Amino acid sequence: MKKTIPFVEIVSTGRFLPPSVTTNADLESIVDTSNEWITTRTGIKERRLAGNEISAAQMGAKAGVDALDKSDLNASDIDLIIVSTATPDRLLPSMACDVQALIGAVNAVAFDVGGACSGFLYGLTVAEGHIATGHATNVLVIAAEKMSSILDWNDRSTCVLFGDGAGACIVQRSAGSRGIIGTYHGSDGNLAELLHRPPGGLVKMSGQEVYRNAVRSMALASERALEDAGMKAEEIDLLIPHQANVRIIESTARYSGIPMDKVFVNVDRYGNMSSATIPVAMDEAIEQGVLEEGMNVLTVAFGAGFAWGALAIKW
Ligand code: COA
Repeated sequence: MKKTIPFVEIVSTGRFLPPSVTTNADLESIVDTSNEWITTRTGIKERRLAGNEISAAQMGAKAGVDALDKSDLNASDIDLIIVSTATPDRLLPSMACDVQALIGAVNAVAFDVGGACSGFLYGLTVAEGHIATGHATNVLVIAAEKMSSILDWNDRSTCVLFGDGAGACIVQRSAGSRGIIGTYHGSDGNLAELLHRPPGGLVKMSGQEVYRNAVRSMALASERALEDAGMKAEEIDLLIPHQANVRIIESTARYSGIPMDKVFVNVDRYGNMSSATIPVAMDEAIEQGVLEEGMNVLTVAFGAGFAWGALAIKW
C-alpha cells in the first residue's frame, strides 16, 4: 500500500535507561570473555542492567512518562497503550495494563504486541491501523525490555550481547506531511529455533545464522519500505537501525546504500535492548540534534521469529 500522504506521525519520544553501567571488563569476572572479543565482534562496550530494583513495566512507564512530558498531552488523553516486550515481568495481565496503572492513563485500552526485536516497529504499525480506522487518537507505543532477566549468565555467547532499557513515542493522526510513508514487515517461523527462549528457560541463539539472516532481512526490509514510500536510498537523511551489533549495522547500511555518517549508532553504550533499541535511539538522536523535523528517516529491525520490518518516516 503506497502512502504518499502519511496517516500518522510521531509527535514525541521518550526513554529510560537504568543507571547501573556494566562494562565489558565487568563481564570478564562473570564469564570467560574479554573486552577485546566483545568489542571487535559486536562494537558493544557497556550496557545498562536493571537489577532487582526496577521492573520492565516500571522502565516502560518511565519512558512513557518522558514521552508524555515532551508532548502537550496528559496521561488521561492517551486512549491506547501498546507495549512491545519479550521480557514481561509476569505473563498475566499484559504488561501494557501494568504500565497503564503506573502512569495513570485511565482512559486507555492497553495490550502488548510480541514481535521480539522488531516489536516496536510492529507496535507503530498497529497504532497506525487503530488511528486510520478511527479507533484511537493518542497512542502511546512503548518498548520495554529487561533482557537481563532471561539471559543465561553462564553462556558467554549470549549474555555479553544484551542490555536493559525502554523507549516510547506518542503517535497521532498526521497533521500534514510528517509521518510514516513506507512500511514493510516480514516473518519466518520456520527459523524460530535459531533464536528462542524455551518455556521457563533462557535465551538460546545460533549466533552466526542469526547474523547472516539479520543482514539479509534488514537489507530487504529497507529496500521494500523505501519502495513503498517511493523513495531512493540517497534521499534518506538518517538510518536508525535496530542496535544488536555494529557489524550487522554496517553491513545493513552498505547493502542498503546508506553511508555510515547517516547511521545512528548507540549499541556501544547499551548493547542489544531488543525492541527498545529503536525508540531509545530516536529519542537520543533528537536530543543530540541529529534527528530534526523534515528529515527522511529509515528505521529497520530484525529479531527472533525470525521477524523483521522497516518504516520510512518523514520526520
Ligand atoms: N567471549 C569470548 N569468546 C567467545 C564469546 C565471548 N563472549 N562468545 C563466543 N566466544 C567464542 C566461541 O566459543 C567460539 O570459540 P571456538 O572457536 O573455540 O568454538 C569463538 O568465540 C567464535 O564464535 P563464533 O560464534 O563463531 O563468533 P562470531 O564471530 O560468529 O561472533 C556473535 C559471535 C554472537 C558476536 C555473532 O555471531 C553475532 O553477532 N550474531 C548475531 C547475534 C545477534 O545480534 N542476535 C540478536 C539479533 S536481534
